[in-house]
Amino acid sequence: MSNRNQAVINWISGPVLRAHTRDAFTVYEAVLVGVQALLGEVIRIEEDLVVVQVYEDTSGMRPGDVVVGTGMPLSVKLGPYILGHIFDGLLRPLHHATDKFIGPGMRSARPARFMFEPGVNLGQQLTPGASLGTVRQDGGHNQVCLLAPDVSGTVTSIKTGGTYLDNECIAVLEDAAGRPHEIHMNHWWSIRKPRPVSERQAATGPLFTGQRILDSLFPIANGGRAAMPGGFGTGKTILQETLAKWCDADVIIYVGCGERGNEMAGVLAELPTLEDPRTGRPLMERTVIIANTSNMPVAAREASIYTGVTVAEYFRDQGLRVALMADSTSRWAEALREVSGRLGELPSEAGYPAYLSSRLAEFYERAAQVRTLGGATGALSIIGAVSPPSADFSEPVTTHTKRYVRAFWALDATRAQARFYPAIHPLQSYSGDIEELVDFWRQHDHPHWLQQRRRFLTILEQQSHLERMARIVGKDALPPRQQHILLCADIINDAFLRQSAFSDNDRYCSPQRQSLMMQLIDRFIDLTLQVIDADIPMDAIYALPVLRRLRRMNEDIDDRHLEQLRALSQDLEAACAQLRQRSHADET
Ligand SMILES: Nc1ncnc2c1ncn2[C@@H]1O[C@H](COP(=O)(O)OP(=O)(O)OP(=O)(O)O)[C@@H](O)[C@H]1O
Ligand SMILES: [Mg+2]
Repeated sequence: MSNRNQAVINWISGPVLRAHTRDAFTVYEAVLVGVQALLGEVIRIEEDLVVVQVYEDTSGMRPGDVVVGTGMPLSVKLGPYILGHIFDGLLRPLHHATDKFIGPGMRSARPARFMFEPGVNLGQQLTPGASLGTVRQDGGHNQVCLLAPDVSGTVTSIKTGGTYLDNECIAVLEDAAGRPHEIHMNHWWSIRKPRPVSERQAATGPLFTGQRILDSLFPIANGGRAAMPGGFGTGKTILQETLAKWCDADVIIYVGCGERGNEMAGVLAELPTLEDPRTGRPLMERTVIIANTSNMPVAAREASIYTGVTVAEYFRDQGLRVALMADSTSRWAEALREVSGRLGELPSEAGYPAYLSSRLAEFYERAAQVRTLGGATGALSIIGAVSPPSADFSEPVTTHTKRYVRAFWALDATRAQARFYPAIHPLQSYSGDIEELVDFWRQHDHPHWLQQRRRFLTILEQQSHLERMARIVGKDALPPRQQHILLCADIINDAFLRQSAFSDNDRYCSPQRQSLMMQLIDRFIDLTLQVIDADIPMDAIYALPVLRRLRRMNEDIDDRHLEQLRALSQDLEAACAQLRQRSHADET
């Protein structure tokens, strides 16, 4: 340890401390603090003082204790063990949701055995981030064994196929200067430094979620960024979980950030019991949970977001589609605020530090579809929950987040109180990933998706004006065309946008069903307009028995019975034709 940087503590406040030094520490260097060797990070250097934030409970620490540099930035160990496991904000394994945090001495998972199948030959020249072969644990998914993004060279030794510990040397590379490098299944990477890629690409399709209001109205692209702001109890956690279960990503990274322990416990108890709808295997096998509940040290919460994206990028670099859910980024911002306050930094809006905005940008900008260093196509989509105090969307975390996301799903308290779920408000939400998805819907027999989407949104907007008017004059006093808009808006809301996360029939909606339902409602709008144009009173439409079936189609007709949607469509055509004939007969 003698050649390591050292400093002596002279001031401590919660997770922040200052220490005197004559050594050359660097900013963001990871340090070990006190006799317990608690993990910390240098966040500022002022002449002979280093300011350190500590990621573990500092109770009992005192001036005079020593801070020792590690010579490395704060890093996590990335390797095959991660998939399917639960960690704290610094990627130390947790075995139970209620674990407060891992003992101070324990830095990462114990070595585990994996089957390694080499995919390279002796003498082969490997570039940074290349694949060395595949890794697998019994019953687990195949993973790619990646060379770290900062290592390259010629293979001078490689293990044959077999079972090895993940910290064992499986290959040796010789770099350009002739130096040997031992390669393991694991490698370390700084959590604050985005993993490099060959190229960021334009998105080529959606991150399909199975939630109609998202996929059909406010989609997120594969490699996109979305935020879901919502007041207390509006359904953020349920929506994040629903996406984790149903979105079509290969790997899910779930960052539970500063939420209550019991809520996190709910997620942890439920996720491992879930079946992967695509394979029938446990969903947890392709999930990583990073849990940092409100009872864990605050500074570790600040780090957990970066740990989450770093892990997500590691899987992206294996050529996978990765979705990262963070619940909630507001709690993360509060951690940032708390540490900044202890540092005595000048507060900006609502007490948050002035760098809140740039930190949010850095986080969301790590989402993208990319060509990896190894030449594969991978994608990382980020979906952050935001919990604005008093559901005030003009507060700093929401407003700054809005600048960096492409899809904005505003959860509305009034809708949630009416138990209308998901409580996403269609007039306050938006998506910038619309044009990119036209082809996707065309491939799912939905060539007019763009026009129908616009039509639905226009009707919902007209509804909000007309409802105000209807409250004053009464709905029956409105002209038939306006009553018609209100009826269509009701159908769009009840039959299409409403989707319970707890309904066996409806918690997931396939692209085929979404497109059939949307086209059915669009046809309903056209047909009933024709009826009104034939001067048939609205009451005749309200009385159509088929209307009730239409309204309930989301719950009643599941993905296995799409023919019933087609039958409903035929019945609707027939019922409206009959109305028109009757009126024609009345006239003659
Ligand atoms: N999509 C949904 N389908 C059915 N019910 C839902 C849905 N979303 C939310 N709910 C209901 O709303 C309740 C609150 O949801 P949730 O815990 O997700 O809110 P939250 O926004 O995360 O709250 P908090 O602000 O406390 O974190 C749930 O327990 C559930 O009963
Ligand atoms: Mg919640």
